[in-house]
Amino acid sequence: MCGIVGYIGKKEAYPILIKGLKRLEYRGYDSAGIALLNGGMTLFKKAGKVSDLEKIVNRDHTTANIGIGHTRWATHGEPNDVNAHPHLSQSGDIAIIHNGIIENYSAIKSELKKRGYTFHSDTDTEVLVNLIEEVQKTEKTTLDNAVRIALNEVVGAYAIVVLNKNNPDQLIAARKGSPLVIGIGEDEFYIASDASPIIEYTQNVVYLDEQEYAVINRNGQYSIRTLGNVEKSHEIKKLEFSLEMIEKGGFEHFMLKEIYEQPKAIEDSLRGRMNAHQGWIKLGGLNEYQSRIDKAERFIITACGTSWHSGLIGEYLIEDLARVPVEVEYASEFRYRNPIISDKDVVIAISQSGETADTLAAIDIAKERQALIYGVCNVIGSSIARASHAGSYTHAGPEIGVASTKAFSTQISLITLVALQLAMVKGTIPTSKLREILYELENIPRKIEETLLLDAQIKEIAAIYKDATNFLYLGRGYNFPVALEGALKLKEISYIHAEGYPAAEMKHGPIALIDENMPVVFLATNKSAYEKIVSNVQEVKARKGKIIAVVTKGDTQIRELADHIIEVPETEEILSPLITIVPLQLLAYHIAIMRGCNVDQPRNLAKSVTVE
Ligand code: G6P
Repeated sequence: MCGIVGYIGKKEAYPILIKGLKRLEYRGYDSAGIALLNGGMTLFKKAGKVSDLEKIVNRDHTTANIGIGHTRWATHGEPNDVNAHPHLSQSGDIAIIHNGIIENYSAIKSELKKRGYTFHSDTDTEVLVNLIEEVQKTEKTTLDNAVRIALNEVVGAYAIVVLNKNNPDQLIAARKGSPLVIGIGEDEFYIASDASPIIEYTQNVVYLDEQEYAVINRNGQYSIRTLGNVEKSHEIKKLEFSLEMIEKGGFEHFMLKEIYEQPKAIEDSLRGRMNAHQGWIKLGGLNEYQSRIDKAERFIITACGTSWHSGLIGEYLIEDLARVPVEVEYASEFRYRNPIISDKDVVIAISQSGETADTLAAIDIAKERQALIYGVCNVIGSSIARASHAGSYTHAGPEIGVASTKAFSTQISLITLVALQLAMVKGTIPTSKLREILYELENIPRKIEETLLLDAQIKEIAAIYKDATNFLYLGRGYNFPVALEGALKLKEISYIHAEGYPAAEMKHGPIALIDENMPVVFLATNKSAYEKIVSNVQEVKARKGKIIAVVTKGDTQIRELADHIIEVPETEEILSPLITIVPLQLLAYHIAIMRGCNVDQPRNLAKSVTVE
């Protein structure tokens, strides 16, 4: 969602804030703003991107060594200059940036109006900053205490940073349900909603925990307390990624870079966790929970978006290999539908960011009902990782492009290991087969590299279909979730309507859509049910649909039927999603570029969805 950055120290704050906002822009990007303290409060806000903000900033007024900045993803109020953050309190003394939603803002707003406050924006954030001001006035207390009291009155989720005109030596930050990290430099501090704006300056960070606030002073001192006013001390952690990892490294877009990083990302996610030659799998992070996982009577996989698609592949893998029942749930549905969960269940929560609000809430419910939570996250130290009993990081490295690519393939790689390990424990896989699959898993990065060589061919196909208004993606078995993910990639970055469907289910509806204008992407690498998918291709052909088929190298039957053939290397069927997704990512990427879309920051989307 929104991106937050703050600085206090000896350096010029403005360049740090602007650069930080650019690094955070992937989180949300409909407007941006900055507040600086330099004698008075200087505020710049603008609808649009950070570059639009830069254009209106008067550099004669940016000399300051304390400030806050924000990129917004609108929740309350349309994205315009007024609704952009920071928001000022009525007196103009307090500025705030906020990520999240204040649910009871309307009641608080009415009360504040009665007390003489007027509001300029439609945001819940302006309500919060005025509430803080009102509390400080009525309680005659310090600003940090007023922040604490005010936050105890609001319902909702937030990460905030507060700047006080009357105290240019202090920043106040707080979180509930939305991440905040403090970077610790030499007599200087950085605050941000994730570590990407910080890594350039320091590797030492402290993560604020739920319902905590920090008072950060210019003299190099900071303190952290709970919103209940209990003092806390946190270990200083070292960031595990480098600046290069969050830069484009010669690629035109983060998405393309991340597609190409998949071979390495998968290697990183498997490293030290398996050995094909010796036939072992070892997932650290399970600690004392290993036996509970081994004995689970059922797995429930919960996630959102692309992570939900890898969950679906997880279901196929775990049921197929380990013969344990699995359910896959959209976290947003699971959390509100009173699900049946017991202490014999293991809930696998999959999340790239580790911050998705619905997934976090689903975890809370499952925990209340005594299930064991196994988190599969990419971002180290993220909220979901910390809320889980046991967990494994995917180690994909920072994913900046809003459309998830390498996070997806590493999630699948990891869940393949989970399924194989379970199968070993349950004795549902012969050792020879286990070794074969592990050897093949080791080969996957090389086979993805081979698949990436098809980029130019896929670009040509993209040029033919870039103006299509609809796309259908069809697959069976392990390739069905890939069809869903391929369709999602296309719609999120190119704005072409696309649907993924199980190939055989097509005749119950989508077949009605097929005519000579409908491109249909078939995932047809299946060994089992190959003849069935050939029949589905025939059905589309008979209705004059345009067929783009992803097939195994050397395929002859589908070649004769399809308009375009994308030949990918052969692999074990259970591993095929790791290969077949790659051409679909590239197809979506090229089509979006040809349509002039911003692939890294598609409209209306955010990388990390920290609101419901
Ligand atoms: C957003 C992102 C998607 C992502 C989904 C779940 O919608 O744009 O790419 O798949 O959230 O995010 P998570 O971080 O939980 O995997």
